Amino acid sequence: MWLKMLAARFVGTFLLLGAVGDFRDVEPVTPREDPGAWREPAPGVGLRELGDATGLRIGWAVVPRELRRDAAYRQRVADGHVIVAENAMKWQVIQPAPDRWRFEPGDDLVRFAIAHGQAVRGHTLVWHGGLPTWLREPEEEWTPEALRAVLETYVTTVVGRWRGHIEAWDVVNEAVAGLFRDPLRTTLWRETLGDGYIAETFRLAHAADPGAKLFYNDFRIEAPNRKADRVEALLRGLLADGVPVHGLGLQAHMHFELPDEEALVANLERFAALGLELHLTEIDVAIPGEITVEQRIRQAIAMRRLTRACLRVPACTTMVFWGVDDGRSWVPRFFTGWKAPLLYDSRMERKLSWYGVADALREGRPDRRLPESVLLD
Ligand code: G3I
Repeated sequence: MWLKMLAARFVGTFLLLGAVGDFRDVEPVTPREDPGAWREPAPGVGLRELGDATGLRIGWAVVPRELRRDAAYRQRVADGHVIVAENAMKWQVIQPAPDRWRFEPGDDLVRFAIAHGQAVRGHTLVWHGGLPTWLREPEEEWTPEALRAVLETYVTTVVGRWRGHIEAWDVVNEAVAGLFRDPLRTTLWRETLGDGYIAETFRLAHAADPGAKLFYNDFRIEAPNRKADRVEALLRGLLADGVPVHGLGLQAHMHFELPDEEALVANLERFAALGLELHLTEIDVAIPGEITVEQRIRQAIAMRRLTRACLRVPACTTMVFWGVDDGRSWVPRFFTGWKAPLLYDSRMERKLSWYGVADALREGRPDRRLPESVLLD
């Protein structure tokens, strides 16, 4: 009920602003995008239950230390099907020195998932970020032989460590360039090992855990654009060469625009046509400047559109939010003036964006509606 009252207030302001043309890119808002039309889930029904009913999995990027110390955080994280380490399974954390391995934070996460019947995404094996200094700035330049040996040891050790416990690995992260003429990003890996490092890493990961689904993961490929074309070309090439790639992760960090649902669907469909499973892997919708009522509506509509787009494409099985609450998000630390991109506020209360996701879930997939028992009028 309160949701309706709150939304009615929002929508009044919203329409007013729309009338003066101050909120152009949210127009045209469909009647179903009016928060006043969204239905609240029944008491006690969370995203996990709504996701179960509609056949779409919800996940969270998690910080193991926060899981240990914050009961409210634990409770929110438990309301999901999938968890992923925001940082705890990055190279920097796992192998801070050539002869030092640190698995405890990752182990904590895997234990939490087992205790709560959740799946784990592994993030990430090969990336230009999150690397330890010894790897990034070696005393002597890496030779291909030496770097290949380091890569092989790392992938075999890490994937082997959690063999059977990680459902899907982001094997290679952000290897494609969006802006430059050269379609692949220049990184330590590419410069030293050549373009073949991508296929090599997938093969190593597959050998270490043949049961894990192996994903390529990247950002700003949610809408059809040049970078998405390049990712498609890369994936086609890998698949044609028989490389074990099973899925594509579309990060969905939305900092600049309100996504167009039809464009999202068209883009997801073209990747699904490759036979890949699709996960939205790092969802957040950052707010610039002041957090106004209009911005919160816009954010909630963006979250709702992302959820609806995923629901409309059967290959899109999983939506992972890049953090639980605004207070712990990476966004304000990295982008001055941008903030509050998640589903819970810093007091761990549900935001309008939470209700946007819930409403899309309760609408269901086109062929699968939710039982009335999980809904509240
Ligand atoms: O853990 C140390 C802590 O001990 C130290 O006191 C503190 C001082 O700055 O740094 C802490 O590490 C930071 C870590 O986040 C945990 O807060 C790192 O400096 C910082 O670089 C790291 O940032 C992460 C970033 O990836 C780089 O790895 C963000 O939290 C994380 O949200 C972000 O996630 C990436 C995905 O992996 C890939 N896609 C893009 C996404 C956003 O950049």
